Amino acid sequence: MTASPPTPSSLVWSDALALDVPVMDQVHHEFVDLLERVVRADDSMLLPHWAALIAHTRDHFEREDQWMQALGFVAENCHTAQHKLVLQVMRHGHAQGHRGDLQVVRHMAQELGQWFPQHAQTMDASLAWHLRNAGMDPHTGALPPAAQPRLRKDAPPKLNPHEAFAAA
Ligand SMILES: [Fe+2]
Ligand SMILES: [Fe+2]
Repeated sequence: MTASPPTPSSLVWSDALALDVPVMDQVHHEFVDLLERVVRADDSMLLPHWAALIAHTRDHFEREDQWMQALGFVAENCHTAQHKLVLQVMRHGHAQGHRGDLQVVRHMAQELGQWFPQHAQTMDASLAWHLRNAGMDPHTGALPPAAQPRLRKDAPPKLNPHEAFAAA
């Protein structure tokens, strides 16, 4: 008996994912496109596409982490911690894939497609709010020198403490 192939159901970019910060939205759109390539990949291309997604995600998360540092977030805030966890899981999947278990990678790709909208619409949306509030250039991502003192503590969007992305 052969296992049936997983049904490709990839994340699709939509306005619901947009944060009205072009420099963030562009990276998120790229993430969605790279994830789509993974989901649609045959076995021969799965790991190269997964590696490309990991590299892009590393840069994507690093930039957001740098913004958070510039805004005065504590180093181990839950958003940065979630980035770290997701990257660890993705790298673990890459290692498993190289040992021949491609299903782990395919499963992670499906999980990422479910995790990302939650992350974008909660943690990234909150960060976007803080960045706009601090006077970030929404096209370049540059923050004014006095960004940190302008960080307000009132009424950021409520966060959904979604920490559910985990490897099987
Ligand atoms: Fe993001
Ligand atoms: Fe993020």
